[in-house]
Amino acid sequence: MKTKYYRINKKNIDKDRALTFSIYTSQANKLALLYKTHSMITQKDIKSIASIDKLYISAEDVQKYKAYISDQTNTKKVPQRKNKFFKVNQKSIDVGDALEFSLYTVVEKKVSALFARGHTITRTNKKELSLCKKLYISGKEVQNFKTHVAQKIEKQKAKADIRTISSEITAILEHIFQTAETSRVRELFPLVKLLTKYLLSKRFQLQKLKELLVYEYTTQTHSLNVALYAGLLGKELKLTLSELNELILSALLHDVGKTKIPLKTLYKVEELSEHEHKELRKHPTMGFSIAREASVINQKILSGIHHHHERLDGSGYPNGLKGEHISLFARIIGICDTYDAMSTNRTFQDSKKMFDVLLEMKKDMQGKLDGELINTFIKLKTA
Ligand SMILES: [Fe+2]
Repeated sequence: MKTKYYRINKKNIDKDRALTFSIYTSQANKLALLYKTHSMITQKDIKSIASIDKLYISAEDVQKYKAYISDQTNTKKVPQRKNKFFKVNQKSIDVGDALEFSLYTVVEKKVSALFARGHTITRTNKKELSLCKKLYISGKEVQNFKTHVAQKIEKQKAKADIRTISSEITAILEHIFQTAETSRVRELFPLVKLLTKYLLSKRFQLQKLKELLVYEYTTQTHSLNVALYAGLLGKELKLTLSELNELILSALLHDVGKTKIPLKTLYKVEELSEHEHKELRKHPTMGFSIAREASVINQKILSGIHHHHERLDGSGYPNGLKGEHISLFARIIGICDTYDAMSTNRTFQDSKKMFDVLLEMKKDMQGKLDGELINTFIKLKTA
């Protein structure tokens, strides 16, 4: 059955508050995910929401949205009435938490202290908390509470499995590529670290990673595929933890410059005109600038983005670099990019197996792509 969506009022979205539902917007007559459940809405997000025409939620989130608004009403009312107390959710407090703020409740219409700052929550305390209908913190400690919630979200993310990490990455990339809002690039940094950690962990399984590869071509799924291949190749090449982090980020962002290319050029089915070709070939340089604006200063990361279309024989773009002048990151990403484009191409997908595509790529791109790196890739794909 098709999911129903309901329009919501953007004024109901609060700054510095985590969402309890997902928000969608309309893009080219389709609904696109804008923020996932649990996303923390910042001042920047509020600004970007203000520029969006219509917001929607799915039918299954309607109750959560109503609860979110009603919580908001309470939060707004309480400080006005009590002057300096804010309602908080008891789910934000767990067993073992050492409180950096005091917790209050209401007993006989009066605010009464429950646990003082510095207290560590026990199992019994947690039960007591769940019985409290309303829980408050003092206005002076709001910042401490926000930090507490932010740390909790980080911890939850650290536990997240590879599927959650990759879907969060895809959602951010989807937003970046659909809205050209490149300020969200920074949100990828912590997720990349989690992805690298997973690749190097004992939990890592090639099969599980292969299941994440998407064969339906969009720029965001292609970017994630390229990052996964690059991560595998980098691991095989025994890159260090920080180099792997850098390589994966570079691969995720390799096509970010395409956000500046007109969509009609990017998705044109017919052959591109000379002018359109010229425009498209600007994307590595544009991507380089976008990454720098997002405070990426690492030269290896930047070179991977800037030079992923350079070819060893000098036939690539934008600078026609040759051989050793093309960095390792750019050579790795160039291979993974070509491979993913070939294996997701509709004409190849059904008839060619992964291994055949690799061999074909090695033959076709001889002298252009790094043969030794392709050999490492071939070993890996057949593992
Ligand atoms: Fe590209």
